[in-house]
Amino acid sequence: MTDKDKPETMAVSVGRMSEAHFGVVNTPVYRASTILYPDLAAVKANTQPYTYGRRGTPTTRSFEEAVSALEGAARTVTVPSGLNANALAILSVCGAGDHLLMVDSAYEPSKIFCERTLKRFGVETSYYAPTDDIAPLLKPNTKAVFCESPGSLTFEVQDIPAIVKAAHAKGVSVLMDNTWATPIFFQPLKHGVDLSIQAATKYVGGHADVMLGYVSANDSHAARLHDTHGNLGLYASGDDCFLALRGLRTLPVRLARHQETGLALARWLAARPEVARVLHPGLESDPGHALWKRDFSGACGLFGLVLKPAPEAAIAAFVDGLQHFGIGYSWGGFESLVIPAHIRRSTKPFAAEGPVLRIHAGLEDAGDLIADLERGLIRLKEARLKEKL
Ligand SMILES: Cc1ncc(COP(=O)(O)O)c(C=O)c1O
Repeated sequence: MTDKDKPETMAVSVGRMSEAHFGVVNTPVYRASTILYPDLAAVKANTQPYTYGRRGTPTTRSFEEAVSALEGAARTVTVPSGLNANALAILSVCGAGDHLLMVDSAYEPSKIFCERTLKRFGVETSYYAPTDDIAPLLKPNTKAVFCESPGSLTFEVQDIPAIVKAAHAKGVSVLMDNTWATPIFFQPLKHGVDLSIQAATKYVGGHADVMLGYVSANDSHAARLHDTHGNLGLYASGDDCFLALRGLRTLPVRLARHQETGLALARWLAARPEVARVLHPGLESDPGHALWKRDFSGACGLFGLVLKPAPEAAIAAFVDGLQHFGIGYSWGGFESLVIPAHIRRSTKPFAAEGPVLRIHAGLEDAGDLIADLERGLIRLKEARLKEKL
């Protein structure tokens, strides 16, 4: 591997330990609690690479090393879910008496963690709108700024380099949930972010069968992250890390297809009379397009859709009858999904002309998906007319 290798090349080669596994290409699943030492001298020296299951096995280490290479990180730790990764990143930086500046477009459970759990431990959270200048919002006790770009319900793109500049000028750490782009389309640490967070449950796993999260740190945040991870007793299973590492190998190829199909659906929907607006930074008309183009090298298959006002029954007629879109939370698997978006804002309300839906473009044929959506919008129109009679 060289510095110049593209993400596609890196995803294939990083984190392989074939020589330690008889030439086997994929690091096998290690399930371990006890790990034996050869003698007391080895216990005393404490130089064994693996000491106890919770502190890592060759499977977890392979995944973490692969991710660190893609993220450009000093260290990566794995945890049981993406939400846990967000919580861990915050806990490894903030303590009692500190203030956290949180983006209002963040994943709702991340916000709830701050409002309920962090609060009990004396950390105050306030929100900023995703496109706000954060400089005037930093307080003397602000310890961290949390970003999620684009927001996974409303898709505003944040100016990460500007946020990093303002935060670092005051010694404040920057944390970013980068699940939408993955390290294939955006590398937070290379843009100055201190902790890069990923719900590997989504695209990295890629097959809707893994719950996993990770946090990757730069040099200055690696020790604190590792220490907090250890003290909390966090551990991700070998089975899930194995599946996620397997997913990582094909991530760039899958993302290219998700991107292509997502953009095709977004463009088609944007031209429909039933649709008020499509929330997709890859569309030239999107307010975040210029920033996205400047900083990101691609878009995944997740985007939003604001419908023109329609009664609930008409929305149900549209969504319930879809054949290729499952109704479900989560995203990033091979399958297309749709879910209503419930948007809660503390800064300013999200101005939507009508109901908001979130769409995940899967790996199905784009033409089949568009035909399914078209049939759905006809049902919506018919239900709306019926309601008026
Ligand atoms: C942007 C984002 N971050 C984090 C998470 C949490 O991931 P997990 O479901 O693995 O806890 C999600 C889940 O939907 C998400 O959309």
